[in-house]
Amino acid sequence: MQSVLFVCLGNICRSPLAEALFVKHVNEQNLTKKFSADSAGTAAYHLGELADKRTRAMALKLSNLNLTHKARQFESNDFIAFDFIVAMDKTNFQNIMKLKPENAKAKVLLMRHYDSMIQNEDAIPDPYYGNENDFEKVHHLLNDCTKSFLKELMRNNIRIIS
Ligand code: 4NP
Repeated sequence: MQSVLFVCLGNICRSPLAEALFVKHVNEQNLTKKFSADSAGTAAYHLGELADKRTRAMALKLSNLNLTHKARQFESNDFIAFDFIVAMDKTNFQNIMKLKPENAKAKVLLMRHYDSMIQNEDAIPDPYYGNENDFEKVHHLLNDCTKSFLKELMRNNIRIIS
């Protein structure tokens, strides 16, 4: 069993959706015995809250997903509890690395490196201050990136940047 933690800033827009889409791909490919997933935020602004209602509405509309994750803050122990930590952008990545303990196990990656269409981009853009189009774009991006990431995990072909 390999465990994956998806991380963004607030844990209400990007990472809970990445978690749910990754799990959907895992379920569809009958891989539930091989992979588990969770999500967290580097900030504590929204602890205990469900995902943003715009994220939840788009998840239901485009992928028939009901997001039930409640926001929690990323912590140093996540480096020990997970095999992979997947950051949504470089700022998240830097804030994750500040909490890296001596005995870290997890490998830290950038989600956008698994974009199958556009190379050379680093970020899943934060839609929080955006409009419906921004939430839709993030949904499609995360659907693609989580699917490619799962494929690469299955091929043991992971680009480690930590
Ligand atoms: P997320 O989006 O990091 O994708 O969950 C954000 C959520 C909340 C805030 C910023 C980004 N905020 O400033 O409260």
